[in-house]
Amino acid sequence: MKKGCGAAVGKTNCRLRVRRVLAALLCLVMGSVLCGCGAPSPGETALTPSPPLLTPLPEKTGLRIAVASDTHLDPDNTDKSLGVETVYNMEILDAMLRDAREQGAELLLITGDLCNSGKANKHAALTEKLRAAEAEGLTVCVLPGNHDLGPLRQMEFAGFYAAFGYDEAFSRDTASLSYCVLRDELMILMMDTGGYAAGAIDLPGAATRDNNEAFLSETTLRWAEELLRKAEAEKTPVIAAGHYNLLPEISRQPGSGYYVENGERFAALLRRYDVPLYLSGHMHLRAVYREDRLTEQLTECLIAYPTGYTVLDLDGDALRVSPRRVDVAAWAAETEQSDPVLLDFAAWQEQAQYSYCRATAEAMAARNPIPERDLQVAVDFFYRVMRAYWDGSLPARQDELRIHPGYAPFFRCAEGYSYGWWLKDLIETASPLLPGYTLPSS
Ligand SMILES: [Fe+2]
Repeated sequence: MKKGCGAAVGKTNCRLRVRRVLAALLCLVMGSVLCGCGAPSPGETALTPSPPLLTPLPEKTGLRIAVASDTHLDPDNTDKSLGVETVYNMEILDAMLRDAREQGAELLLITGDLCNSGKANKHAALTEKLRAAEAEGLTVCVLPGNHDLGPLRQMEFAGFYAAFGYDEAFSRDTASLSYCVLRDELMILMMDTGGYAAGAIDLPGAATRDNNEAFLSETTLRWAEELLRKAEAEKTPVIAAGHYNLLPEISRQPGSGYYVENGERFAALLRRYDVPLYLSGHMHLRAVYREDRLTEQLTECLIAYPTGYTVLDLDGDALRVSPRRVDVAAWAAETEQSDPVLLDFAAWQEQAQYSYCRATAEAMAARNPIPERDLQVAVDFFYRVMRAYWDGSLPARQDELRIHPGYAPFFRCAEGYSYGWWLKDLIETASPLLPGYTLPSS
């Protein structure tokens, strides 16, 4: 099967398209976060039942690690009258923490963009929740993303999150907020990929910067290699994590907002030492990239549809990677929430996605008019593709989508828009890597 931009991507064969893919994806994700969520009016295409919350996790037989990303916690954004997903950020995090504990995760990694800005009150709100999770047996290790520092500086960040990685580190880099933890004989390299305000850099060993691009310094690479050498000598399996991505083509394009200086060198280092997995976030989407023995798992933005996170199961020589969707409604019922949105959250999110697809198709049809009846089926098609993409069922639904009556009308009205080529690419390149896969652990 051809691989390309989409739910899962091998060595990408669509260099020129990646920037537009990401623009489309971010537009979609943030659109669903930001848009209103009215139900379709009578006469519009009926929604099919919500997909089940993602498939059950495999049986836990060894170390289980939960990985969340881009939690963007914001206690100042909780006005429920706004009716958008972001106002539920605090509740979604609570629900995820509960789910991770109930699923038997012993460790939670959060790969950056912890809060919506580097403001101390937002970090304090997060640490309060993490402290409660740790009290119930879930160890938490966090990394900074581009939204987490400035006004907070590096030293303050390490202080804030002392109990969530920095004080329990087996080794800390002097030049960045990178650190390394050991858990059940697994070494986890937690890489600070920068990308935040250069003015926030104040670690004694860090060099000053004149731009805010993400980077891994020479000192940091040397520190990481020393640990990798030690792990190799001691036959300790290793995984790595960072906020920014390494393998997507756009990570190699300076000025793109996704570029990581020395990212390719770090990826080469991981390959040299047979590290099978790098975990990242930042793009707000779930995807798998694979290039020369190194797999990169991107975890989606927790507080956007479909409110998912990643679960790793390490058992002997195998490392199983699974997606997990947060059951917000189950949390809401258990904690006796009264908000009807929370009590039926997945259905509410489906409506949000549908509304976004409808608004987007209508906007495209304003330039490329199609009959009203065609527009209805085009919206249904659009929504079904996106839902299948997010719930991991797209590979199994390719044939069904190719013969959907909305297929042709959708691509007629999307002519000249990024969704026009991107959805086609997505359907044709859907990879069976989702919903889960297994790697050798070393
Ligand atoms: Fe980010």
